[in-house]
Amino acid sequence: MTLDHIIQSRRSIRRYLPQPVEREKIMACLEAARLAPSAENVQPWRFLVMDEPDLKDRVAREAFSGIYAASRFAAAAPVLVLMMARLDILANNLGRLVQGTQFYLLDLGIAGEHFVLKAEEQGLGTCWIGWFNLRAVRKLLDIPKKYRLVTMLSVGYPASQPVKPRARKELQNIAWFNQLED
Ligand SMILES: Cc1cc2nc3c(=O)[nH]c(=O)nc-3n(C[C@H](O)[C@H](O)[C@H](O)COP(=O)(O)O)c2cc1C
Repeated sequence: MTLDHIIQSRRSIRRYLPQPVEREKIMACLEAARLAPSAENVQPWRFLVMDEPDLKDRVAREAFSGIYAASRFAAAAPVLVLMMARLDILANNLGRLVQGTQFYLLDLGIAGEHFVLKAEEQGLGTCWIGWFNLRAVRKLLDIPKKYRLVTMLSVGYPASQPVKPRARKELQNIAWFNQLED
């Protein structure tokens, strides 16, 4: 499978088969994430993989209740990956104060997408989940404050592919050579 094919075929998957995901496949995704670049090579990402059904169900119940019910589809995924940042005082404060950029969010985004693309290569479906109850998850799992909860990924074998065509802006509206044309 070429990189181009992986990028072209990846879609957010919101329907999963109950079939468990092999740990080796998750490990390959984590290894791909581990190799991601990060500002100052701080590597702020931390991953909590939840594939134990009881734990995952308890987390899903807390994470996707109330106003977060739109993300409830993710409860059917056999694996949830909680992505957290362990902030580096220098890199993160300097970046935020001087540059106005939260580099750790970029870092986690890059690492997360490495994970997602490796999952795609192995026939797995994923969906980024930004909309979930961070506070309730922190409380349930007793996660110390030094970790900033950022996002989740749902992972599993796809039960179906999205029917809606991929909606993307045209290249001429988002990218230019040498001169901004907007
Ligand atoms: C940072 C981030 C957060 C997202 N959060 C959610 C979410 O909470 N729920 C959801 O259903 N999809 C979520 N998505 C998936 C996007 O809706 C999806 O990537 C987008 O609609 C494009 O569709 P595609 O991934 O199939 O190409 C998120 C994606 C990203 C990158």
